[in-house]
Parts: sequence; C-alpha cells; structure tokens
Amino acid sequence: MTRAAHAAAAQGAAAQGAAAQGAAGILRAVTPRAWVAAALEHRDALLLDHANCEKKAASTALALMFTYPEDLPLSLALAQLAREELRHYGQVARVMRTLGVPFARLPPGRYALELRRAVRSREPGRKLDLLLVSALIEARSAERFGLLLPHLGAPLARLYANLASAEARHFELYTGFARTCAPREWQGRLQELAAREAQLATAPGRVLRFHSGPLANS
Ligand SMILES: [Fe+2]
Ligand SMILES: [Fe+2]
Repeated sequence: MTRAAHAAAAQGAAAQGAAAQGAAGILRAVTPRAWVAAALEHRDALLLDHANCEKKAASTALALMFTYPEDLPLSLALAQLAREELRHYGQVARVMRTLGVPFARLPPGRYALELRRAVRSREPGRKLDLLLVSALIEARSAERFGLLLPHLGAPLARLYANLASAEARHFELYTGFARTCAPREWQGRLQELAAREAQLATAPGRVLRFHSGPLANS
C-alpha cells in the first residue's frame, strides 16, 4: 500500500469512528445489513437519492434561517452548513458524472416526510423538534456513509469518508442548538423522535432510498 493509500485508509477509519460514535449516541437502531446489501446492489439509484438529500439538507437549513431569524447564532451556523451541503451536492454530482450515472428525477421516500409528521405544530416545541429531526437525519447519514465505506472503491470511498465525518459534525451542531433551545426537554424529546426515526430507517419498504429501510423482498 502506498503512503497516500495508507493516509486515505486512516482518514476513512477516523471518519468511520466519528460517525459510529455519533450514531451510537443518538440513533436507537443500527441500519439493517439488508439495507447495506441493497444499497450496494442499487448504487445508481442510491447516488441519485444521495444527491437529492444534499440539496434537501441545504434547503432545510435555509428554511430554518427564515423561520428563526431572531436566533442569529443559529442562522450563522446554518448559513455555513447550507454552503457545505451544496458543496457536497457538487461533489456527489461530479462523482456520478465520472461513474456514468444518469441524472434523472427520483421521488423522495417516506422517511423525511414521516419524520416531519412527528414535529409539533406549535412553538416552543416546534423549534426543538425541527432541530432534533435534522440532527437525527444527519446522524443516520453519517452512520450509513460509514457502513458503505468499506465496500466502496475510488472515487466514492474517499468522498464517503469525508461525508461521514462532515455529517457527524452536523448532527452535533443540531443537537448543540437543541440543547440550548430547551435544556430540560431536549433529551426526553430526542428519545421519542429517535424511536420514530429508528422505525422508519429499519422497516422494509417497496422503494430503496438513502434513509429508508431495506427492500421488502431482500
Ligand atoms: Fe451533506
Ligand atoms: Fe449534513
């Protein structure tokens, strides 16, 4: 193994470690092995959905900035996060082009939609729930990048190593703001939302997406 390959492997291991540590702290269920197998089998569809997830992560951050303009520390952090998510989109799109993955419209799965149904409609609970839902989505992303990483070759392996550590950092950012938002309530509410997230991320379904459960017939 060359020195560069050793460095890349070490970087990947560090990213995996960070992601796994984070996932252990916040996620209530590990991703089923059947999802990993299906994701590797349906690589192109997963990459398309992944590209959409990066765009969605940026737009969610922007939406929070519009909803809570009075929270300047949050807005400034989310402005940085949105830029980073759009950079991730560009990285994924370029890898897809390199791999010859066709760009097409792909309907989203039910994961984010169903998770948002659990968000309370009134303040002050709504802000806490929105922050925690974003934290859970980021944590699941980090966990799954880490799980896919050992099975991937270049150029995806390097990209997913970087993304695993970035998304782990993002979930820590969201949980940090949730803690500030509701110091006494956030942990209890996190447990409730994490339980729902675990159901959605592990239940077999008819379509495979980056945050879905495995395919029903796999
Ligand atoms: Fe991202
Ligand atoms: Fe992220």
